[in-house]
Amino acid sequence: MKPSTICVVGLGYIGLPTAVMFANCGHTVHGVDVNEAVLTHLNNRELPIEEPGLLERLNEAMDAERFTVSNEPVESDVFILAVPSPITEEKRANFAYIESATRSIAPVVKKGDLVILESTVPPRTVQDVVVKTLEEETDLVIGEDIFVAHSPERVIPGKVFEELVNNDRIIGGVNEQSAQMTADLYRTFVKGNMHLTDDTTAELVKVMENTYRDVNIALANELAKVAANIGVDVWEAIRLANFHPRVNIHFPGPGVGGHCIAVDPWFLVALDEVNTPLIHTARKTNDGMPQYTAKLTASILQAKAIEQPKVAALGLAFKGNIDDMRESPSLDVVHYLKEENLNVVAFDPHIQENRLPEQTQSLTDAARDASALVILTNHDAFIELDPHTVAPLMKTRVVIDTKNCIDRACWKEAGFDVYTLGNSKDD
Ligand SMILES: NC(=O)c1ccc[n+]([C@@H]2O[C@H](COP(=O)([O-])OP(=O)(O)OC[C@H]3O[C@@H](n4cnc5c(N)ncnc54)[C@H](O)[C@@H]3O)[C@@H](O)[C@H]2O)c1
Repeated sequence: MKPSTICVVGLGYIGLPTAVMFANCGHTVHGVDVNEAVLTHLNNRELPIEEPGLLERLNEAMDAERFTVSNEPVESDVFILAVPSPITEEKRANFAYIESATRSIAPVVKKGDLVILESTVPPRTVQDVVVKTLEEETDLVIGEDIFVAHSPERVIPGKVFEELVNNDRIIGGVNEQSAQMTADLYRTFVKGNMHLTDDTTAELVKVMENTYRDVNIALANELAKVAANIGVDVWEAIRLANFHPRVNIHFPGPGVGGHCIAVDPWFLVALDEVNTPLIHTARKTNDGMPQYTAKLTASILQAKAIEQPKVAALGLAFKGNIDDMRESPSLDVVHYLKEENLNVVAFDPHIQENRLPEQTQSLTDAARDASALVILTNHDAFIELDPHTVAPLMKTRVVIDTKNCIDRACWKEAGFDVYTLGNSKDD
């Protein structure tokens, strides 16, 4: 495809890597964000988010003068919307960001342009929000004058650049031409297959993928509780069950976080409450895991009769090796640990400013006088942590591993009582 001008609206975990990727493949890209702090960072060539390989690629794009940023969309051939799609307190989709992003491009969209929604959205958002807003704000005929598609992003933070290139993409157009134009554009760097469909199917596919994972994790969490009650190690049981060629049970944990898996199933529940009891129950099961983790911790410490115990919660990001705390179950674990009357200090090497009153930037401070370490995120820093470095600091040597990520034998050898969520087997 010949080089295009592309305007990427929303420069977060998805929009920014996508923008620099297109810029480094020969397109001229303008990034837009409403957050001035993001723009200041980028103009100073600093990253507003953590992602391996991003800084080098940002510098490359800016050196080549192919990437500029501002707070307003500019005329372009292509508009990519990568703004948030959260849920409200009532667990309903909040369309405000998608609507305002669409409204913001309307004055500069012209005949022949392509508008791509990348955000994960409830089925019919392209039709009911993007197309409707463009029809309200412009005189252009959708599908004839301008082209609109949904190309949901499936990358995983921490491996975004690898997955942008290698993942298959689902591309749903409001008509065939919209889907084809979008596929031609992404072909610039995508080596995976492109699967073309209509916009509403593409929306459902993305939400289904995350719902499948949420329900599967809920199953694993239920099995973890059952296994713990009958003296079985659920991690070993899942490992063995997954040798079955048609079984793929996910892993239990202290809850499900992030703005995808913990959010998207609610889109389906809100869309059709009557027909989604399983999806709804899975959400509630996973949302119950932080309290389960806190109660597990409290009961372990109670059995040891430790007075006024201090607990070090290790890991605030919602998953390993990233700096993203959105919807992180760790925050709820901290809350429920306090409800159990435990003194809590939280530490995460990836969250380098204190966002919670309980947070410290020092592992030593977290571990000092603690009666238990509760590992909530499988960061490499915790997997590789030498227990001998924290053991002398602690009041009692207890570690509760909710992710089954540490070397049990090594921690035992350092004098720790090791507990694993979903495993009451003492070996
Ligand atoms: N982060 C992921 O791993 C991931 C993976 C797949 C899909 N998604 C989806 O991609 C979308 C974006 O997610 P994200 O993680 O990049 O979010 P983010 O919060 O990191 O970034 C969104 C950016 O959009 C900006 N913004 C909000 N409204 C705007 C507007 N009207 N105009 C311009 N900028 C605006 C915000 O300031 C922010 O910088 C969401 O729908 C999310 O569900 C995210």
